[in-house]
This record gives sequence, C-alpha cells and structure tokens, in this order.
Amino acid sequence: MPVTPSVHAVSQYATTTGNLTARIALHTYGTNPQSWFDSDERLPLAGDVLEVGAGTGRLWTHVDHVGRGLRLTLTDFSAAMCAQLRTIPAARVQQCDAADLPFPDAAFDTVIANHMLYHLDDPDAALAEFARVLRPGGRLAVAVNGSDHLAELDAIGPAIGRPELVLGAAQNDITAETAPGYLAAHFTDVTVERYPCDLDIPTAEPILAYLDSMAGEPLPPEQRSAARDLVQARIDAEGSFRVRKHSVLITACAESRGMNCATPAAPGRPSPAGTAITGRTLRT
Ligand SMILES: C[S@@+](CC[C@H](N)C(=O)[O-])C[C@H]1O[C@@H](n2cnc3c(N)ncnc32)[C@H](O)[C@@H]1O
Repeated sequence: MPVTPSVHAVSQYATTTGNLTARIALHTYGTNPQSWFDSDERLPLAGDVLEVGAGTGRLWTHVDHVGRGLRLTLTDFSAAMCAQLRTIPAARVQQCDAADLPFPDAAFDTVIANHMLYHLDDPDAALAEFARVLRPGGRLAVAVNGSDHLAELDAIGPAIGRPELVLGAAQNDITAETAPGYLAAHFTDVTVERYPCDLDIPTAEPILAYLDSMAGEPLPPEQRSAARDLVQARIDAEGSFRVRKHSVLITACAESRGMNCATPAAPGRPSPAGTAITGRTLRT
C-alpha cells in the first residue's frame, strides 16, 4: 500500500506554513525561559543528522549545525514546509513521507522527530524507518505531548460550538504516556524527560489566532466573539489566561549489538540517558 500523509496533516500543512507558525507563536508565552526542543542542550546531535517532519526548520535557527560540523538532512511531506526548509544554510532537503524515507540503511547518527509522530496514520511504520536509517548505536530524539497538554485551550472549541477544535481530535494515540512503549518496540534505552513549562497569555488575540490555526481558516464572527468573551473573562478575573503544557523529550538508542549507545558529540555534555526526570513542572 502506498504511504501517504494523514488527511488532517494534508489539510493543515500541505500548502501553508501559516497554521504551524501561528501555533509556534503561542509558545512565546512559555513560563520557562529555557527552550528544549529548539536548542541543542538535550538533543543527542552528532555527525549525520536527519530531522523528519521538520516543519519550518525552527530548530536550525537556534542550533549552529554548521559550526558544530553536523551534516544536516531535513524532510517533510509538505511542499510549503520544504520551500521554507530550503532557506536553511547547508542543509539537504528532501520532500518525503516519514514512513517511507528515501535513504539507505544506517545512513544517520541522529534522527529527530519533534511534535510530528502523533500526526501519522501508521507511527509504527515511521519508527521502523527511523530505526532502519540509524547506524547501530545512533540515537533518536522525539518530542510529543501528554494527553492533558493545553487542556484549557481544548476547552474553548466545545464551548463555542466547535468540538472538533481539540488537539486529540485528529491525532493518533501517540502521547507522552504511550510513546515510550511505541519506541521500545524498535529501540533500546528509552528515556523520557518532561519539559517544565506552562503558558501565561496576557491577551485574547494570540489565543484567537491559535483557534483560527486549528480550524485552518478564520473562525466565523459569532464563534470568534464567543471565544474572545470567554478568554477575556478569564484574563479579567485572573490577570492572564494560564494554560498547562505537557511536553516530553524522549530519546532512544538504535540496536547496537553490544556497542554503547552513541553520546552527543560535544565534550562535557551529560548523556541524555543520565538526565531522566519525569513529571516535574516549573511554576513561575
Ligand atoms: C506540528 S508540526 C512540527 C514541525 C517541527 N518538527 C517543529 O517541531 O516545529 C508537524 C510537522 O510534521 C509534518 N508531517 C505530518 N505528517 C507527516 C508525514 N506523514 N511525513 C512527513 N512529515 C509529516 C507536517 O508537515 C509538519 O511540518
């Protein structure tokens, strides 16, 4: 059977970077000044690096892949995303599905799949591909969300007559809770680290832009007005609209037949396997 992206992924991402960009913008209201998923401090970056479902390539505007000597390959199924990815210097860009990677076996030292596994119709097929293209001892880094991620935003859609505007509605069952089991079927040394952060949003506008992005088009005026009233009432009462985040970084090792799992190239950096913390959140 030919591999295709999900219907939802096509409607959200195939022809535009706008929906993703609007949602990324909301995370500028994070309470943790340190970002994990777009910095190289926790990612096991080394040698030949592949990012799958790389989106707008935000990670590589923060990580100096050239200075670190990484050989970078970026992929996404979306032509719009790939056009954006081609603006990143010294990166090879390939438009392809995550479950059908056009690369030979054992071609990479690191594979990254951030915030994308839950969009796939067959995540297991993609994980098998990630394992195939990794060298023995190579590392996978995956970011996914808990089932309570952004629960306060998920409550708005149903309250304004748009029950489909919730994160889980068009996603598979990959969450922070289930993903380690999926990875363990293909990898060893699976380590989960929770990112301590919430969102503290001072005005209604970024939340309305988020809802538009979830709908894939501007909300009709009546629904927009209902959403604005709901959000503004919370801001008036509490000073801001507080949203719980629940994102985790999961790292794992490709089968190494007795070899140690590769560690990040930078000297002095702790191994991701030694930094496992689960369930810790930071309140500021
Ligand atoms: C939520 S975005 C995350 C983008 C980026 N990884 C980040 O963290 O900013 C999900 C990305 O996965 C891509 N995607 C969805 N389904 C895919 C598939 N089957 N194969 C490859 N990419 C896919 C989308 O086009 C989109 O760019």
